[in-house]
Amino acid sequence: MAKITFVTNNNETITVEGTSGSVMSLAVENNIAGIDGDCGGVCSCATCHVHVAPEDLEKTGKASEIETDMLELDDNANEFSRLSCQLEITEALDGIILKVAK
Ligand code: FES
Repeated sequence: MAKITFVTNNNETITVEGTSGSVMSLAVENNIAGIDGDCGGVCSCATCHVHVAPEDLEKTGKASEIETDMLELDDNANEFSRLSCQLEITEALDGIILKVAK
């Protein structure tokens, strides 16, 4: 199980718990504002874009090549960007903070 904290664009901080599946699915199930997951998690919409807190990047790892290609189309992308559908929930992610991208 992992506790994951989302910070929305309204500066709301919401911590939820998940055991499996993607971080995007967890966010959608918990109605986290700004994470839509329009493509269903196949890395082709970027509506699940988050910025990983710098201190947590070690836990999540950086974006893969396929994510980077998608993120290049998003002006708000930076080195902390991940597509949350590509983040698999494991205990390794426990305690991470993700800021929902604009
Ligand atoms: Fe579409 Fe993540 S849900 S890219």
